[in-house]
Formats: sequence, C-alpha cells, structure tokens
Amino acid sequence: MSDPHRDVTSTIEALLSEGREFPPPEQFAPRAVVSSPSIYDEAENFEDFWARQAEQFVWRRPHRQVLDWSNPPFARWFVDAKLNITENCLDRHLQSAGDKVAYYWEGEPGDRRAVTYAELHSEVCRLANALADLGVTKGDRVAIYMGMVPELPTALLACARIGAPHSVVFGGFSSEALKDRIRDAECKVLITCDGSWRNGAAFPLKEYADAAVSECPSIEKVLVLRRTGQDVVMTEGRDVWWHDVVPGQPASREATEMDSEDMLYMLYTSGTTARPKGIVHTTAGYMVGTAVTHRFIFDIKPESDVYWCAADVGWVTGHSYIVYGPLANGCTSVMYEGVPNYPDKDRFWDIVERYKVSILYTAPTTIRTMIRWGPEFPEKHDLSSLRLLGTVGEPINPEAWMWYHTVIGRERCPIVDTWWQTETGMIMITPLPGITTTRPGSATFPFPGVGADVVDDQGRSVPLGGGGYLTLTRPWPAMLRTLYKDPDRYIETYWSRFSDPSTNTWVYFAGDGAKRDDDGYFWLLGRVDDVMNISGHRISTLEVESALVDHPMVAEAAVIGRADERTGQAIAAFVCLKGDAQGDEALIVTLRDHVAGKIGKIARPASIVFTPDLPKTRSGKIMRRLLKDVSESRQLGDVTTLANAAVIDDITQRAATASRED
Ligand code: PRX
Repeated sequence: MSDPHRDVTSTIEALLSEGREFPPPEQFAPRAVVSSPSIYDEAENFEDFWARQAEQFVWRRPHRQVLDWSNPPFARWFVDAKLNITENCLDRHLQSAGDKVAYYWEGEPGDRRAVTYAELHSEVCRLANALADLGVTKGDRVAIYMGMVPELPTALLACARIGAPHSVVFGGFSSEALKDRIRDAECKVLITCDGSWRNGAAFPLKEYADAAVSECPSIEKVLVLRRTGQDVVMTEGRDVWWHDVVPGQPASREATEMDSEDMLYMLYTSGTTARPKGIVHTTAGYMVGTAVTHRFIFDIKPESDVYWCAADVGWVTGHSYIVYGPLANGCTSVMYEGVPNYPDKDRFWDIVERYKVSILYTAPTTIRTMIRWGPEFPEKHDLSSLRLLGTVGEPINPEAWMWYHTVIGRERCPIVDTWWQTETGMIMITPLPGITTTRPGSATFPFPGVGADVVDDQGRSVPLGGGGYLTLTRPWPAMLRTLYKDPDRYIETYWSRFSDPSTNTWVYFAGDGAKRDDDGYFWLLGRVDDVMNISGHRISTLEVESALVDHPMVAEAAVIGRADERTGQAIAAFVCLKGDAQGDEALIVTLRDHVAGKIGKIARPASIVFTPDLPKTRSGKIMRRLLKDVSESRQLGDVTTLANAAVIDDITQRAATASRED
C-alpha cells in the first residue's frame, strides 16, 4: 500500500519546485469583491479611504472628523459620531434578510441549530432586557465565560445593545485566570454555562466560575446557561438561570446610543510580563475596520457564502471574525463547539461538506495537526464548496501552506495568510484574494490604507531584502485605544520603542520580527522574543522549524534558543514525527544535516528531542517558553494555559536523556 504522507509530500515537493508564486485562480479574480490593485492607491489618503468605507453603515449621527490624532498615541476615530453596533450587525438586515441564517451551529455531541438574523435579533433583545433587569447599565462591565454555543455571540451583542463593555474570558481558562480578569475589570455580572463539551467530556465552567467569583466582590449576579445538564451549585440571591429570566423578556429593545469612542469591549492578552493586559476596543472604528477587512479579505458575497472561522469567540479572532465583522456584513457563518477530532479526525471536513462551507479560516497549528493525521480524513469528504482559505495566529511554514493548498483547497482556492493581533483588532497584513499573487509563507502586503515597515534597532527602515522589527506607521480604525486602567503601559509597550515625540513621529511596535523580500512581500518571523542569537547570528525559531517540518518524516517541530556558554544561544528542537515513525540517533543526524542544508550550518539544532506531542495552549499555540524552561533545566513557569499538561513531564524526561552536540 502506498504511504499517503509520502504521496502528499511528493506532490508538495513537485509544486514547490515549479515556483512559489500563486496568482488568484482565473475563475476567482474576475468576480472578486476587490479586483483592481488601484485600491492601494485610492487608500493612500487613508482617512478619506476609511471615511468612504464608513458610509455603508447606519449612524445615529455622522462623524465630524474622521481621525483625531492630536493627542498621540491616543486616537479618536469618527469623532462625535453616534451609533449602536448591534443596529449595524442585526437591525439593518432584518427587512431584507431576517430569515437568513446568521449561524449554523453544531455542538460537539452532534446537536445542530440554525439561528436566523431575526431570531438572533430577538434573542439579543431578550438578553439585553434581562441584563438590564439584573442591574446592568451603560458602562458596567460584564464578564463572559462560556463555551462555543450560539448564546455566546448573543451575550456579546446583548452587552453592546445596552452599552455595557464585555470582557470575554476564553472558556478553556482556569478559575484563577477568570478571577484575575474579573477583578481587574471590576465586572458587575458574569454570564456563564453549566459546562461545555470538549473532546467528549463536559468542561466544568460553572464550577470554575464559582471558585473565581467567590473572590470577586464586584460580581453581583451570575447568569447561567444550561448546556451540558451537569449538576451545578446555584448560590441563592446571586445565581440565576438563563432559562428562568431570558425567554419571558420582550423580543425588542431600543439600542442604547453610543459615542464612536465608547468602549465596546476589553480583551485580556498575555504580554511580556506575567500580568495579562486588558486591550480596550471602542465602537465605531472597530466596527468599520472589522467589517471592511472581513468583506475585502474573505471576498464575502453575503447572498451565497457560508463562512467558517474555526477560532473560538474567546480570542480576538472570534470577536472580529465570528461575531462583529461577519454580522455587520450580513454573512452566514458556521460555528462549531468542540475539538476537530471528535468523534473522529474528519470532523472539520464533515462540517465543511454538510454546510457547503465556501470560506474556511483557521490556524496553521490546526493545519499541521491535520497533516499529522494524514490526508485520508479530508479525502473522505466532498470539499468542492470551498473557494477561499485563510490562516491566522502564527507564521505558516511553506509546507503547511502547500498542504492546505493541495489537500484542502485542491489547488483551486486562494489562501489569505492574515497577520494581525488582539491589539490591532483587525487584519493588517494580508493578500487580497482577487489581486495578490501569493508566496507560500508570506502574509504579503499591508491592507489598503495600513502603513507597515520593517526597521532596525534604531528605528531606521530596513531596505527591501532585509529583516528587523515590524512596525505600524499610521493609525488605523480598529486599533486598541489603550490598556484598561493603564495608559502609561499602553504608551510604554507599543509606542515608546520607535516613536520620536520630539518630531511628532508615532510608530507602533508590534513585537514581531519580519523581513521583506526584494519585491516588498512581508514575511513574519514570529515574536522577537522567539528570535535566537547564535554566535551573533540572528536566526528565527520559525525558519528552523520550517526546515525541520520540510523533512518528510516530520509532522511538527518547535525550536527555542537555550542559553549556551559558547555560542550565546544554542538551538534546541522538539520534533513530532509523522504516523508511527520512531526517532533514533541516525535520524537526529539526518535532521541536523537537513536543517543545515536548508538554512546553513549555523542553524543546525544542537539537540533534538523526539516527542509524540508539543505543549500547547488551548488555542493551539506552542508554549515555547516551557520548552525553554525544560532545556535550561529550570523550574517550569506558569503552566495554567497549557492544554495538554502531561506532555511537558514526558518531554522533560526525554530531554534529560537526549544527546547534545554542544
Ligand atoms: O506574532 C504574531 C502572531 O500572533 C501574534 C498576535 O497574537 P494574538 O494577539 O493572540 O492574535 C492572534 C490572532 C490575530 C502576532 O504578534 N501572528 C498572528 N497572525 C500571524 C502571526 N504571525 C505570523 N503570521 C500571521 N498570519
């Protein structure tokens, strides 16, 4: 029998050897939402560009000024405009598209629901009324700690309906993380579920919420949605069931008028310090930024597309591209509750086939996991409905890109590799699928109107062909406005490194390394803290990982720079092999040579540890700092966000016995 991994690998190798450029397929470009490169010139005056885009929304009062940048780095967009984002996401679609499906939802156990725009509008109004009855008024913060159920977008929108900023805490976080976030934001109400389904088991959300809330004096009420039916303790006077207080409410509620700069939500994200930062997003600019990028980048045709962003609403990707952007565009989305391998490893492809998904947006780590599982799972399904693919969250190595292109996209679908951050609110560097000739592994160019640069240590622009720090050089509408209750840290973290207030030059430092090739394509190299320095040479962990994954036996790899007396840092690699392959000393030598062959001798890993799995967060990001701790024989740092806790002990043991070349 032929080895499917080998077959795919050789297809990919053949394609790569033909050249690495991929123009939009001929059948795609002529019908694309954006099909003329002149959009980049038209957006050169970015304020005019965004003002034109803003015309398509419903405003209670129009703006007086597009951008107020008189007090940088604190921006105000669409100054003095009045609106409510839910009128743009819901009310305005009711007349023409009330019966249209907003969400096809699938629970992990297999239960299904379709929620129309009219139903979503009614549910949002009912919940908004219930929240008002629980004492929530404009400006009060509401924490949301739920699984991926349709009531989760409802909860975000109900808060927005009454002007209460939401603070969503990812449903996989621990009670400790939830507590810290609620306390920092001083939330008045928490919305949660009894539990959520994940990998066939009920995750105890309410139990965790109870542990958190017992130390959160600001919480007055906890609203609980029944999802799993598991036993929960309800605290008299504090906890109320959703089904007791929401269904009886009126199905309409006047939306609260908001200023363009009123806070829509906060979302905590990890920074370089242990304490998470509360990223603050406001209303009008965020709405315009997310809706326009969503429509242009994903080529949204609301009348025919079924769009699936397979992220979790607990992260910014879900906020911007499951909830606000798609709903503002009147788009039909798919939402899925659980993991991709329940009950089997073809769950994603089963969903794509059933709902005829036309646009799929997921993370490279998911793609690499799928590669490891093998092509037989997607091959079992009819994926012909797909017409566009997207990735986000981390640099995508060319081999994963090619696999996505060949095995999932069947060589018909453009791929948009989208770079952005919780802080940016919207996609910033990306192909436009009707225009851009893509190169596997490159996020290509800044979105129209977005200014991006690559600079050296001194903040000087690095000529094409060179690498350095990624910066953003112009304000953009969905940008974070500040860090909650910490404007100084906002300035310090993002605007102090490369700005020059004496010349009124304001440059946003993204924390990422990037290089531009000779044609100006941006290649993201990962967080700068993940860049290694080996004997004075800068080498990206990603480049080495990519080289390792390029080997036909390697499914996934993580690389870190561990302290080394001789070379400053030495490269330590952790490698998962495909299928049942076993690693041995001979393969270590082969892989070292393979990396040396791809990048240069300097990039040869000093040690390679074979492992069946890598430590990852619940959102699928590899926790390299834990690998660094293991490699440097330190006590492990914070492991609370680790999804697969057992793996790290296993790796520690393997690392202790692995041979080192240094
Ligand atoms: O390092 C970049 C990486 O993810 C970081 C932002 O993470 P977060 O705020 O959690 O938001 C993730 C989803 C928007 C960035 O600083 N990143 C995100 N997208 C890409 C990426 N790195 C390379 N290529 C991307 N497409």
